[in-house]
Amino acid sequence: MSSLLSGVNGFFGLDIGSTAIRLVELSGGSGARALTKYAYLPIDSNIALSDSKADQQKLAQTIAQLVSQAKVSTRNVAVGIPSSRVFTTVADVDRLPTNELAKSIPLQADALIPTPLAESKMDWALIGDSPNDKTKQEILLSSVPNKFVEERLDMLEAIGLNVIAFEPDNLAMARALSVPDASAQLLLDVGRRSTDLVVMLGNVPHLTRSIPTGTEAVIRAAMQNLNIDEKQAEQFVFKFGLSKEKLEGQVFQAISGTIDLLTTEIEKSIKFFETRYAGTKIERIIVTGGASVMPEFPLYLANKFGTNVEIGNAWRNVMFSRDRQNELLAISNQFGVAVGLAERTS
Ligand SMILES: Nc1ncnc2c1ncn2[C@@H]1O[C@H](COP(=O)(O)OP(=O)(O)OP(=O)(O)O)[C@@H](O)[C@H]1O
Ligand SMILES: [Mg+2]
Repeated sequence: MSSLLSGVNGFFGLDIGSTAIRLVELSGGSGARALTKYAYLPIDSNIALSDSKADQQKLAQTIAQLVSQAKVSTRNVAVGIPSSRVFTTVADVDRLPTNELAKSIPLQADALIPTPLAESKMDWALIGDSPNDKTKQEILLSSVPNKFVEERLDMLEAIGLNVIAFEPDNLAMARALSVPDASAQLLLDVGRRSTDLVVMLGNVPHLTRSIPTGTEAVIRAAMQNLNIDEKQAEQFVFKFGLSKEKLEGQVFQAISGTIDLLTTEIEKSIKFFETRYAGTKIERIIVTGGASVMPEFPLYLANKFGTNVEIGNAWRNVMFSRDRQNELLAISNQFGVAVGLAERTS
């Protein structure tokens, strides 16, 4: 694995999601880049989330098929890691020059991450001054089990790809969707099984979490409470969402309990963040993933938290010709991770 990126046309981003595989290739150096290729193929979530050899093989075949169909110009790829596999924490560490930090953090990491350091890939990024202790600075520390990363690497190399970087999905998504200003913004990617939450402040991730509630749980609640099958539940959820008027509010009533499992966790994260960084308020919430197209979900969040809620645009930093606008916006809610990976600069 090389960490040197050759800039122009150097690599593409690959999101191995639980309902689809997506890739994005951009061209141009730093600054706004132009869309060269994007492509996706749906997959069965049972395959995507399985660790069995046979399922992994099917997954590899689907990725190979997508890469060949998309005719990307390179075999170099930056790959997302599902946030549910990544442990992330914010830690206060002694103030040291960056090169000394790089030596000292691994020595402290064993006490900070849940798996043994020898069995984990660990990475960190400096956030800034610690809000608690003037003598310290804070870092965002992530770790992933070696086993998971090595299996992914083997799978991708076996289909002829050259992995130049792995990155947690949530950080890639935040790069693509966050608004480039100093405000505190909360990004939410509501996926199939889980929801990724990232709080950015001054465009630096300060808090990340994976919440084990996604659209699958919402659809299941609709099935059970309305006594309907999965197909119909999915249709109802994405057609009526949290509207209290549609269908006499029956869908709303069926799913609001599950939605509130999610909002309760979001609220905890907001409180945690606003307590740690006293005087800082979350000014906007940006939603993407499956639930961002659920009617009135953004409005529900806005009412609950008294905050501006926007639907994220995965292509906000990407240049493309005007006639592709509708086509791209229609799939924007599922491309945040792949675009963010393609926008990496190192
Ligand atoms: N416009 C839509 N209409 C109906 N269903 C949708 C729509 N957009 C997304 N979904 C559904 O929402 C769910 C989550 O979609 P999303 O694209 O966020 O999943 P994913 O990225 O594959 O999952 P994960 O991020 O958990 O790996 C999927 O079941 C998807 O089918
Ligand atoms: Mg996703």
